[in-house]
Amino acid sequence: MGAEIKLEVKNISKSFPGVKALDQVSFALKKGTVHVLCGENGAGKSTLMKVLDGIYRQDEGEIYIDGKKVEIHSPMDARANGIAMIFQELSYVPDLTIAENIFMGRWAPKGKFRLNWNKMYDETERLMKQEGLPYKAHDLLRSLSVADIQLIEILKAVSFEAKILIMDEPTSSISNKEVEFLFRKIEELKKRGVSIIYISHKMDEIFRIADEITVLRDGTTIATKKANETTMDEIISLMVGRKLENMYPKEDVKIGEEIFRVEKLTSHKIFEDISFQVHRGEVVGFAGLVGAGRTEIMRAIFGLDKYQTGEIYLRGQKIQIKSPADAIEKGIAMISEDRRKYGIIPMRDIMENVSLASLKQYFYKGIRHKKREEREVEQVCKKMRVKTPSIEAKIMNLSGGNQQKVILAKWLLCDPEVLIMDEPTRGIDVGAKTEIYQLIEEFANAGKGIILVSSELPELIGMCDRIYVMNEGHIAGSLERKEFTQEVILGMAVSN
Ligand SMILES: Nc1ncnc2c1ncn2[C@@H]1O[C@H](COP(=O)(O)OP(=O)(O)OP(=O)(O)O)[C@@H](O)[C@H]1O
Ligand SMILES: [Mg+2]
Repeated sequence: MGAEIKLEVKNISKSFPGVKALDQVSFALKKGTVHVLCGENGAGKSTLMKVLDGIYRQDEGEIYIDGKKVEIHSPMDARANGIAMIFQELSYVPDLTIAENIFMGRWAPKGKFRLNWNKMYDETERLMKQEGLPYKAHDLLRSLSVADIQLIEILKAVSFEAKILIMDEPTSSISNKEVEFLFRKIEELKKRGVSIIYISHKMDEIFRIADEITVLRDGTTIATKKANETTMDEIISLMVGRKLENMYPKEDVKIGEEIFRVEKLTSHKIFEDISFQVHRGEVVGFAGLVGAGRTEIMRAIFGLDKYQTGEIYLRGQKIQIKSPADAIEKGIAMISEDRRKYGIIPMRDIMENVSLASLKQYFYKGIRHKKREEREVEQVCKKMRVKTPSIEAKIMNLSGGNQQKVILAKWLLCDPEVLIMDEPTRGIDVGAKTEIYQLIEEFANAGKGIILVSSELPELIGMCDRIYVMNEGHIAGSLERKEFTQEVILGMAVSN
């Protein structure tokens, strides 16, 4: 491990109205190493990275690259200093092609006034081939899955030939296969002397790739540890400031009558013959690889997508769900995996985002009961420990994990009978994950039915009563709690 310091930040502070996001943060990144930043949601990780990327300007503190003090006023400055960043919230333009996306902002010139499109497209084709991706440079980003878009983002950052690469939760929406791809890339980059700052909430991942780990809490640096001289437990307790006892607070909830049933649901070429039931008090998991069709099934049930045949029953009665609004009206709620697209209205405040799904409750004879609405929104946000100066803050200003908590709060407030959760803990810190699991238990205890789609097997194994394993659009089988093991589930998910 090179001891040479590539980048150093000293006493960086940054405030937003009502929040001191960074308070005298310092750390040093060594050349050719991976330095992981971890900390709870809202600890300040993304803010610090945005300072390095020139998106925010620090109020105080200095940045040094190769021992020289630098001023970074814009992303262009960051690029000029060899810094590239992969953002936590994907920043792609769906209607651009892959090539346009990769070259955005650094177009290859042709003469003085023209762009060398051929070069950009050729270069992109070459990249796709080299990385074994089944895409053409002309494909539009919107035709790719979230996971593949994330891969393109990674390639884009890599192709900048950056010396310092910042990755803010790069694996939050990709599957194991793509994670392996990313980790191979990271190894290659390290060998080339690239220094990497890596942000993640996934502890096993952190320990696989970190050379050093710095923990932030409430905007301050708590400690920097060498990865081979610390443990997961130590890092977690540094992050949350206490010891976490029981990660999965699963209780023995009485399983009641059937509340929800799907029969032979089929959507041509996407999923086929999907039948399952959920009982009151039951947490039913859906395991499978990314792309196995789990999200698509949930979307169809929730009225977001069409399906060709099949039936849905709620409390034994056959129902037709025409739209998400219709689903909500009938008592079915869904927390979706892609919060940017479906979960939130970024420009609006927390209060509106939360009460959106339950507005009817706050109207009486055409008059809005704002006080009650405020009180109840405050309550659920408090319960979820949403970190914000007030419920009037715009949701886009919250940290990634706190946005997810707001979405959960929204569904809590409208009190559904059946709650579909698609990757609910994506991007959520370890402490808050446990809080979400506690909420799942509360729902179960209240006799609701819960459907949990997750790519994290420990989470499914820890929280579910029953797991359906999906394999290429089919249900490959279902398992009872006592039968759960990672090997069995994975075996069913990949066999053919
Ligand atoms: N543009 C902004 N305006 C106001 N407040 C902001 C803004 N950006 C971040 N914050 C606040 O600064 C704090 C730190 O947020 P940041 O996004 O850096 O957290 P994080 O550590 O990346 O969390 P997560 O793990 O959830 O992504 C939070 O309280 C957040 O609400
Ligand atoms: Mg963040």
